[in-house]
Amino acid sequence: MTRRFDRRQALKIAGALALGGAVSPALAHAGETTLRAAARQGGLSYGAAGDVELFTDTEYRTLFLSEAEVFTPTNALKFPTLQPTEGHWDFGTADSLVDGARAKGLRVHGHNLAWNDWLPDWVKALSWKDARRAFDAHIDKVVPHFAGRLVSWDVVNEPFYLGFDKPGTYRPGPWLDAFGPGYIFRAFKRTAELDPHAKLVLNEAWTERTDVVGLAVRRALLRLIDEIKDKGLRLDAVGLQAHLTPQIPYDDKSFADFLHEIAARKVEIYISEFDVLDIAYPDDITARDKAVAERTRAFLDAVLAVPAVTRVVTWGLSDRYSWWRDPSMLAAYKLTRLPRPLPYDADLKTKPMWMAMRDAFTHRAA
Ligand code: XIL
Repeated sequence: MTRRFDRRQALKIAGALALGGAVSPALAHAGETTLRAAARQGGLSYGAAGDVELFTDTEYRTLFLSEAEVFTPTNALKFPTLQPTEGHWDFGTADSLVDGARAKGLRVHGHNLAWNDWLPDWVKALSWKDARRAFDAHIDKVVPHFAGRLVSWDVVNEPFYLGFDKPGTYRPGPWLDAFGPGYIFRAFKRTAELDPHAKLVLNEAWTERTDVVGLAVRRALLRLIDEIKDKGLRLDAVGLQAHLTPQIPYDDKSFADFLHEIAARKVEIYISEFDVLDIAYPDDITARDKAVAERTRAFLDAVLAVPAVTRVVTWGLSDRYSWWRDPSMLAAYKLTRLPRPLPYDADLKTKPMWMAMRDAFTHRAA
């Protein structure tokens, strides 16, 4: 499930990454501005997630470097990529991506340190005592390794997620088994000690939904923010993923109200993994892209009215590399069409979603 490069190859491609960066021809279709510039006008940073395609696809890399200010490595900093077997560390791909992006002026966000999903089998096989040791060892190795190079870290990812059969309860997994919810406070404490400069982020999914799941996760997350703060721990930002799946009910106004409740707790808000799954929209591509753009505009207008929102990151930049097109996701969601959830299509042409984002960003400045 992880795509890894050996170190020599990674260093070679880091050189290629550092060399890229001419203005992309695709931008000619989009007028003069970039999403980065439009976001800046609106007082926020725009970013995108990316992976090894930034090494292999030069046209895409050029586009990416033109558009994004923030870069979130999609999988390169996740636990199984960095520590595929116990005590064996592989920082090759991560270092190449992080250093290559920084060399081009991107600000890199770390994703992620403590997540009860996407863990290698060796972690799942540990006793709870050994899992405690592995948890600490991972943070103690990874945070200093990247300190000074990352602007922010998702310290904890998806603490609640679906709640499975009990919405709003903690996501199960090895770290919850080992420490109970204390794994969350432990991760924030240790990371703050090891990297005093990176902003520390609590990242969560599904809070945009206005159904039983979404509302339960909202309540649980607000309570958790209070608990982290009450313990005197540093929490700089809350990341809300915003993988919008419009077959599920949304109410942008009630989401904005929730954002105000977060903001009242004196933290920044990042929209951290934005994309729009088009499953509920028409087959016709023009109509579908229009619907995605309208959903984008309504969502961003509501979100950007909240001053605490300082960053919007899309989960990729082009449909060519959207995670919704992974075979596992197509199967899990029984998708019969290739999703078109991002601002650029698979040919790296701007879509109406791009215009909607640009307009929402610049509208905020007005
Ligand atoms: C996804 C990646 O995009 C996929 O390539 C990978 O197979 C699974 O993880 N929420 C998160 C991200 O926090 O880490 C996930 O990324 C998408 C959902």
